[in-house]
Amino acid sequence: MEKENQRRNFIKTTVILGAATTISGINLLSGCKEKEDEDKKVSPPEDLMQEHGLLNRVLLIYDFCKIKMINKESFPLETITDAATIIRTFVEDYHEKQEENYLFPRFQKANQLTDLVNVLLKQHLAGRNITEQLIQLSKQTTRTDDEHQKMIDLLTSFNTMYRPHEAREDTILFPAFRKLVSQHEYDSLGEEFEDNEHKKFGEDGFETMVNRVSEIEKKLGIYELEQFTPKI
Ligand SMILES: [Fe+2]
Ligand SMILES: [Fe+2]
Repeated sequence: MEKENQRRNFIKTTVILGAATTISGINLLSGCKEKEDEDKKVSPPEDLMQEHGLLNRVLLIYDFCKIKMINKESFPLETITDAATIIRTFVEDYHEKQEENYLFPRFQKANQLTDLVNVLLKQHLAGRNITEQLIQLSKQTTRTDDEHQKMIDLLTSFNTMYRPHEAREDTILFPAFRKLVSQHEYDSLGEEFEDNEHKKFGEDGFETMVNRVSEIEKKLGIYELEQFTPKI
């Protein structure tokens, strides 16, 4: 009898321990999954820098179109309208708004890098002005020689300004932003950035924009990366 009781107790304990182990195992697994998801989240600067990558591809398109215009070679001019429209909707009305709404005010409040922030803001305005003119001029069915030259100048001014602009943000502003905010704020801003992007452009908003840029590159014959490898 005593032996039977011992056996039953043993089975009971084993079942309870087994269940407890399974539950804690599930908790451990879901904990790992959460940690993995957390690690995969895009931080605010990473998000902004990916968008700079897209901006850079448009700068390459502008470079290419500018050379074509200088040489008076024909090319599909609507590619400039399309590229400038991407700049307006994705870079100016979204990416730069994120910088203006979330980053710049924090630097101004902390009285840090305020000179840089003022220049960056001024350049955002200048960029919008250029984009507006580029869209108008590229949409016209014909252009005078002056207007042709004006477009070349606008493309030049845009690229001359945006290369140092984004390089300064990547190397100075974004690293400083990492130090300026708490870890919690940094993480929650990452989520807010993603949410804003999805609300404005849908779940695959960034990928859609990248595809649109790729289509323009294909039209111009500058999509294949291999063509840029020097033959040395
Ligand atoms: Fe900016
Ligand atoms: Fe930027």
